[in-house]
Amino acid sequence: MDMKVFERRRERLMQHMNGGVAIIPTAPVYIRNRDVHFPYRADSDFYYLTNFPEPEAVAVLIPGREHGEFVLFCRERNPEKEIWDGKRAGLEGAREAYGADDAFPIEDIDDILPGMLENRGKVFYSMGRHRDFDTRLMGWVNEVRAKNRNGVHAPGEFVDLDHILHEMRLYKSPEEIRSMRRAAKISSAAHRRAMQACRPGMMEYELEAELMYEFKKGGSPFPAYSPIVGGGANSCVLHYVENNTALRDGDLVLIDAGAEIDSYAADITRTFPVNGKFSGEQHALYDVVLAAQHAAIDKAKLGNHWNDPHEAAVRVLTQGLKDSGLLEGDVDGLIEKGDYKRFYMHRTGHWLGMDVHDVGDYKIDDAWRLLEVGMVLTVEPGLYVAGGAKDVDERWWNIGIRIEDDVLVTREGNDVLSKDAPKTVADIETLMKP
Ligand code: GLY
Ligand code: MN
Ligand code: MN
Repeated sequence: MDMKVFERRRERLMQHMNGGVAIIPTAPVYIRNRDVHFPYRADSDFYYLTNFPEPEAVAVLIPGREHGEFVLFCRERNPEKEIWDGKRAGLEGAREAYGADDAFPIEDIDDILPGMLENRGKVFYSMGRHRDFDTRLMGWVNEVRAKNRNGVHAPGEFVDLDHILHEMRLYKSPEEIRSMRRAAKISSAAHRRAMQACRPGMMEYELEAELMYEFKKGGSPFPAYSPIVGGGANSCVLHYVENNTALRDGDLVLIDAGAEIDSYAADITRTFPVNGKFSGEQHALYDVVLAAQHAAIDKAKLGNHWNDPHEAAVRVLTQGLKDSGLLEGDVDGLIEKGDYKRFYMHRTGHWLGMDVHDVGDYKIDDAWRLLEVGMVLTVEPGLYVAGGAKDVDERWWNIGIRIEDDVLVTREGNDVLSKDAPKTVADIETLMKP
């Protein structure tokens, strides 16, 4: 994305800061074992404001500062280290390639940062995310407090940065939507590839490999979350990630997988028959979930509130459970008492963006918030009938179905970013024909 995009974001944030100072550290490097690290990914808030991908960096925004409002602490160039770990931006790169007004070595932060807090009324900071950094910040504030007798004021107010910043992140700009569309396209191609590759007897991880091939080939550095590939009984385990069981003829397989592109996530679930042909029971419940998803997507529109899609999905699912004989009673009563939760135990979606479960409030002053243009949410109803479910005929056992799409709220209605992943019974069976 253009450097200007990040500059505009910083400016917008600073308009809310009323002379305060904002401190935004990036994510630490996590050690996997000894000298092996987990793949590095910058903190989403930090990256949203800086586009800076390297670890060991802290952004400081100081509206009105004479020598520049955007200060970046980062690693210096180091030819020795760069032989091993690749090129670093260094202080010059921070200024030239990332638009920092001023850049300092990260090693010097303890000496320099306290001075930036002097005579500033407020500190904007996301408290409680990184305990070590919280402690360091308090140390810097205490240093300034100690200068009180010299006429230096320490900040008296600490404001949670999350609120302002996450409200900004909730509304996606055209550039962000472009990245999310690409993430959804690559992920949809991956789901199609998995459907085409699937055969009874294959291992779940073999389908995962098909997904990963498309993700990588599409330019995704890593998936947005651990992919779920669950066949049969595993399709009913909501957070199943082992993906190490053989896929059996006659079972369904549920795949929940999305790529990350430019730090934006896709989050797509498709469920299909391992042998390419839905059984009667599978087909019946699948159509209930699909109808629930259509009803929910239809509610994911400007002016409706956050919970409208969920309520629409619950009604269709509950009616379907009753029609299939899995629940008995009147639909309103079953909804009111929450009886449907036996087979539908999660909610119908979440915000989607840089984080798969993205930031942004769902309620404002105790009321569900209204959907607005530029918001992106998932719509993901499901039904899960575990093996051995009490008082349920065996023919329904081990059927776990979820259908999940990524939906952008537009002026005209909505746009399903993940529409390239087939989801009707007819389209899936046609694609899976050998
Ligand atoms: N893949 C995580 C979710 O669907 O929420
Ligand atoms: Mn989801
Ligand atoms: Mn998902």
